[in-house]
Amino acid sequence: MERLHKIILEEGNALSSNVLKVDSFLNHQVDPELMYEMGTYFKNYFKDKGITKIFTIESSGIAPSVMTAMQMGLKMVTLKKQGSKILSGDVYQTTVHSFTKDMNYELTLSKKFIDSEDKILIIDDFLANGEAALGAARLVEEAGASVAGIGIVIEKSFQPGPQILKEKGYDVYSLARIKKLGENLIEFEK
Ligand code: G4P
Repeated sequence: MERLHKIILEEGNALSSNVLKVDSFLNHQVDPELMYEMGTYFKNYFKDKGITKIFTIESSGIAPSVMTAMQMGLKMVTLKKQGSKILSGDVYQTTVHSFTKDMNYELTLSKKFIDSEDKILIIDDFLANGEAALGAARLVEEAGASVAGIGIVIEKSFQPGPQILKEKGYDVYSLARIKKLGENLIEFEK
């Protein structure tokens, strides 16, 4: 997605060879027009997959997901990172380890927002080690539903996530694929 590449180059900041800071348009401040265009790209790629619902993981996946859901005429569900006491007993839950943040969290989905007929599109802001997407996929599959695709805003293709998800057979579509990060360096895959 050309406009996303441009804004990553203009406003992105490689904090290290592993982490790209993009808080001016994705992780802190949000550019709604850019998010809308992301939604158009995701819709165009996944439109023939019979998708019934979009799932995302709080919090930075919400903006691109809601824009996609709006354009596809679907509902969007935010997977919570903590179990709710109120929802206890009526939830699917799985532990996810974040290597980037070196922490575990409980990814949680209320059972009333999924059924076995659902074909779910999972959308998230970053794909690094793939743990968040794999956790979301576990919840979908535990409910007997299927993962119809995984849409990612920024994939770091030098980290293990993209390969792991593709080896598991998931259809992964990323709007920007970063090959290399370094001081004053952001290099995209061709
Ligand atoms: P993984 O799911 O692919 O294994 O990634 P990981 O757990 O390592 O990532 C944990 C958090 O760090 C996620 O945010 C993810 O979006 C974010 N992250 C990973 N790599 C980068 C990066 O290069 N730049 C930025 N800015 N973020 C990165 P989160 O905890 O879910 O937070 P948020 O969605 O509330 O922003």
